Amino acid sequence: MSVFVDTANLEQIRTALNLGWVSGITTNPLLLAQSDLQPSELLKKLRNLQNGPVFYQLMALSFEAMLEEAYQAESILDKQLVVKLPPTDLGFKVCSELSSRMACCPTAVYTPAQALIAREAGAQYLAVYVNRATRLLGDGLALISEIAQVLKGGSTHLLAASLKSPEEAIAAHLAGAHDLTLPFDTLMAMSQHEASTAAVAQFQKDGVGLTL
Ligand code: E4P
Repeated sequence: MSVFVDTANLEQIRTALNLGWVSGITTNPLLLAQSDLQPSELLKKLRNLQNGPVFYQLMALSFEAMLEEAYQAESILDKQLVVKLPPTDLGFKVCSELSSRMACCPTAVYTPAQALIAREAGAQYLAVYVNRATRLLGDGLALISEIAQVLKGGSTHLLAASLKSPEEAIAAHLAGAHDLTLPFDTLMAMSQHEASTAAVAQFQKDGVGLTL
């Protein structure tokens, strides 16, 4: 499995990558809009910061324009690009067209039927917004579980997104998500527990080792 950071904030991305266990970066148009940099400049920086996937969501509205935008993103990110697409007839058609050439990720998937289509269209990932699905539909984790069943045995990775706490992230993993993308605050909270902090402090205070 992989854990990605879900932000376009360079300072947050540098901090996340420095942890040593974050495998790539997911963005969306709203996150890109919060950056002072133009999307093309930001994507170049994300490519140069690390070797893992960079998820970029297409904004164009026609088949031809979406292909052109995907090729433009590919010219910046090369093999690191994962193209995010809407889970619509148009988005799935673009996915079918591109998936033999580049990694595709239908995003904001809210039904198992959309997941089945994504699989058939050759998607390498599909993104499910867990917390949003819970708020909108009642049970985002049940959705993860159903979609995991749909994808079982195939090569499409279920990427759980919109995860607002470590507990929700782990619940999504246990429900069958293959990969997680975490907003910065959730990512940084993953390693934290007061009992661990207290145990480490006691070892430091009363213990001995090679360097102390
Ligand atoms: C995923 O790539 C999205 O950026 C993100 O997780 C959307 O969820 P949110 O806006 O509910 O946090």
